[in-house]
Amino acid sequence: MQSIWVINGPNLGRLGSRQPDIYGSDTGDDIHASLQAGQPDWDIVWKQSDAEAEIIAWLHQAIDQSVPVVLNPAAFSHYSYALRDACAMVTEAGLPLIEVHLSNPAAREEFRAHSVISAVATGVIQGFGADSYRLAIAQITRA
Ligand code: DQA
Repeated sequence: MQSIWVINGPNLGRLGSRQPDIYGSDTGDDIHASLQAGQPDWDIVWKQSDAEAEIIAWLHQAIDQSVPVVLNPAAFSHYSYALRDACAMVTEAGLPLIEVHLSNPAAREEFRAHSVISAVATGVIQGFGADSYRLAIAQITRA
């Protein structure tokens, strides 16, 4: 069965209790279960790390194993050039990498308005809560 890796950046391990008015009350496990239920023919693998190095290592593995990626870079979106370079390697390898956000960062504080990842992503989906992930996965699986 083909895998899709759903990689989540810092503080997203606290989904469910972290600012539920912004990020919703579902935990990462809840979102993962619902994504997997919606895609029974795919292995949806949920990963979360607060560590940039670990996320970059996962992106390198995704390249080596030809795994499509859905990435919520969280706050790294706004300043991590190291993560951007790793994302560029994924898309340059011909693999989809869809950037997602639960909230719509463009409608929030000014520092969130710019993502350094977006220009090297295949596409961006933001502002639809957990549906942002579902839409990104639907885009990958329809190809
Ligand atoms: C986020 C938006 C980011 O600005 C923020 O730092 C996050 C979550 C989102 O999913 O809406 O941690 O990526």
